[in-house]
Amino acid sequence: MLDRILADRINEQINLEWYSAYLYLGISNYYIDRNLNGFGNWYLIQSQEERDHALLMIKYLQNNSEKVLLQNVQAESSDYPDFKAPAVRALEHEQRVTASINNIYAAAYEQKDFRTMQFLDWFVKEQGEEEKNEEDIVRRYELFGSDPRGLYLLDSELSARVYMAPSLVI
Ligand SMILES: [Fe+2]
Repeated sequence: MLDRILADRINEQINLEWYSAYLYLGISNYYIDRNLNGFGNWYLIQSQEERDHALLMIKYLQNNSEKVLLQNVQAESSDYPDFKAPAVRALEHEQRVTASINNIYAAAYEQKDFRTMQFLDWFVKEQGEEEKNEEDIVRRYELFGSDPRGLYLLDSELSARVYMAPSLVI
């Protein structure tokens, strides 16, 4: 059994992961509607990864005989002013998710719940990668995005991303 506070925090995090999945699905739709299918592909895969994060956390609760409490998932407006804005929104959001994961980690540390800390280690590492990826997209958009050929090449590059199931086994 998990500590009550930790089980509640993980349940909240599950909702935040679904929220992330929905946010990125909206961003993917935004780009695909504007024929930037590479960007659309990138964020669709991002959305799939967020769904996977939620499912991993659900499994972790279930492995600990804890109840999963699904909550409503809010959709964000995908009425972005320009092509750069969704990427900036994604970067901000990942920073928020990192802070949230770190808070759960701190609670597990306080409870001396070493197993939950070990489970969260993968997510801590994953967040480092997510923030770096989003930052790269924003920076590269700033460098090349205003030039149509640069934007075309960036879009082509992002179209090469392929979905891979998470490496974490619970
Ligand atoms: Fe996530």
